[in-house]
Amino acid sequence: MVLEVLAVAVWAMLPAYVPNNVAVLAGGGRPIDGGRRWNGSRLLGDGKTWRGTAFGIGAGLALALLLDAVAGDVGSALGVELPGVPIAAAIALPAGAMAGDVGASFLKRRTGRERGAAFPGVDQLDFVIGALGLTALVAWDWFVDVFTPGVLLAVAVLTPALHVGTNVIAYQLGLKDEPW
Ligand code: CTP
Ligand code: MG
Repeated sequence: MVLEVLAVAVWAMLPAYVPNNVAVLAGGGRPIDGGRRWNGSRLLGDGKTWRGTAFGIGAGLALALLLDAVAGDVGSALGVELPGVPIAAAIALPAGAMAGDVGASFLKRRTGRERGAAFPGVDQLDFVIGALGLTALVAWDWFVDVFTPGVLLAVAVLTPALHVGTNVIAYQLGLKDEPW
């Protein structure tokens, strides 16, 4: 039962976890804000690029389609029922994750935080809020079916841990400038 809840939480959130990490690998090039400033600070900053965002969403979407195709087989191998991912959710999970991350950078710049500055809590949960929010908006029936209170609790506990873990690894590998 607990295993099933954890497995569903990870399964359903994988398309939202991957985009940030792929953006780190693929980032670079033209910033989304085009260098624009607002009240003296950058709108978003150089850390939010078109390329990173596009590859992040593309990778999350590709993963969601793959997970949807193998949900039945992997589920029976693990002895749990894993959800398929409808196309609306397959797009909304990664797009919402990237939007949440962009929104967090917007808030960081408005609160005087330079690119790369930590914003504890926001850094760990921005993409979850974005992913769940957009998915609830475009695929409500699937959302309430999959994200039961137990699964949401598992997401709330697992996500900061996974996020901190992968960012520390990316930092140690020299892929990220800061471990958050
Ligand atoms: N990245 C990107 N596009 C995005 C998100 C991330 O290109 N939409 C890349 C950038 O190279 C960025 C790196 O991934 O520097 C790390 O992402 P993140 O920690 O989110 O950005 P920061 O550079 O720390 O900037 P910010 O303070 O705005 O979060
Ligand atoms: Mg950062």
